[in-house]
Amino acid sequence: MGKSFDIGLERLMGIGVPGIGETQEGGVKPPLHDAGRQDAGATGSTFYLETFGCQMNDHDSEKVAGVLLGRGYRQVETPEAAKVILYNTCSIREKAAQKVFSRLGELRPADEQHGKSSNREDTEEEHKVHRDGRALEKNHPSQRKIVNAGGGKIIGVLGCVAQQEGEGIFERAPWVSLVCGSASYRKLPQLIAELEAGNRRVTGLDTDTDETFETEITRRDNPWRAYLTIIEGCDKACSYCVVPFTRGPERSRTSASILEEVRRLAEAGYSEVQLLGQTVNSYADPSARKMRFSELLAAVAEVRGIRRVRFTTSHPRDFGKDIVEAIEAHPTICDHVHLPVQSGSTAVLRAMARTYSREEYLEKIALMKAARRPISITTDMIVGFPGETEKDFEETLTLLDEVQYDGVFAFKYSPRPNTPSLKMADAIPEEEKGRRLAILMDRQREIQRVRNERLVGETFEVLVDGKSRRESQWSGHTSSNRVVNFTSPERELLGDYVQVKVVSAMPNSLVGDMVGRE
Ligand code: 5AD
Ligand code: SF4
Repeated sequence: MGKSFDIGLERLMGIGVPGIGETQEGGVKPPLHDAGRQDAGATGSTFYLETFGCQMNDHDSEKVAGVLLGRGYRQVETPEAAKVILYNTCSIREKAAQKVFSRLGELRPADEQHGKSSNREDTEEEHKVHRDGRALEKNHPSQRKIVNAGGGKIIGVLGCVAQQEGEGIFERAPWVSLVCGSASYRKLPQLIAELEAGNRRVTGLDTDTDETFETEITRRDNPWRAYLTIIEGCDKACSYCVVPFTRGPERSRTSASILEEVRRLAEAGYSEVQLLGQTVNSYADPSARKMRFSELLAAVAEVRGIRRVRFTTSHPRDFGKDIVEAIEAHPTICDHVHLPVQSGSTAVLRAMARTYSREEYLEKIALMKAARRPISITTDMIVGFPGETEKDFEETLTLLDEVQYDGVFAFKYSPRPNTPSLKMADAIPEEEKGRRLAILMDRQREIQRVRNERLVGETFEVLVDGKSRRESQWSGHTSSNRVVNFTSPERELLGDYVQVKVVSAMPNSLVGDMVGRE
């Protein structure tokens, strides 16, 4: 499978967990949604598209697929079957970036092999204590066999690694013919046309654009939840992060075009929309209407047919009371906020250039805790940033206790090219990073166990998005984005909103029984 279905992890930049089948805590995958997978059109050509990384990348791939389908291409499930092979890449951490070179090694043409073996080692580097127990099949082992790139295949590298490595990719893997960063995607149709016309190599590497990538057709993978980019790029300059280099400066879409797309999505039957941006709440309407992010949220929530509005990822600096008020005023805005903190130590936050202190972050948390309905809070954390002392790390642990997150994505610090933190002194040894990560995850798992157990006996509305192979077993998400696995004898529930009573809880998911519809 070239692309996972609903990754279900409510965050922007991370790496999928390799398929691990059905987990103990549920993890059922809905059937592949076939809409948009058309038969070969005018060109009769086929493409294979594999995506790494965050939801922004997932959604970019939906748009890229839309562009190709619009040109008459047909999407296929294996690189072997494809004329055009595309990798949409992630470079947020080193191991993520390595993955694409491992994939490209598998495509090395026979005359370039020279006895070199491809690096088949798959790297697992995301560590989550999150309530989504769903298994992912992004990098299914069946895909990892050498596919000889001969036979006139076109191989393209898209996304953050493309932006970061640029034409250097042609040197490392001369069998690649397209390199295009996400900030240049609006050029993709033109680049593809050049390849179709016989050009050997094409690139799209500009980042100095003030345009966003909008397409006529987006091939959406999830039949119920539609992703929608409202702001691209990032103007923050966190000292560890490659995103400002790979995705370019912030560009927001006009509120009118966003609302128009939401209306079309609702008409097409989507009941849930998720607004996306690296810093989604830094949204700045470029039109004369000048809608604030919280106003946009409210306007999206009022579109007829939309039952759930999500947004990710928020930056603490731009998170204000108005967003909490919008959530309070509109039940359709989900009661979940992903607010990455990165560290509990003000000294480390300063070194990271996060632009807030521990106390200022806690003020934002207090706004949510004071809301009229409970808001579920999740976060990202980095351990082992250069110079992070034992005391700094201890402050990260006490922040977990204080905030009581419902989910945490934790990462070992990974030095990235071009970033200011690359040259910072007092690097933390890998082993020590690993030790801190394990301690953090243990602490958070216990917090989630206790928090979830408190929900036993409560009833939640669940959007059903998974059906188990086991008889009468279903799964879905609550408004707070908790995964609920539940039993129901009904024959068809996918896409329905049902009431589920929680009967037991685990750190990453709830178990329940269906007690009603709607
Ligand atoms: N090393 C480790 N983690 C990182 N992240 C971003 N850059 C790095 C890096 N260089 C993490 C942050 C961010 C998440 C998506 O990835 O926690 O919020
Ligand atoms: Fe990276 Fe910071 Fe921008 Fe997030 S806010 S994308 S961590 S630079």
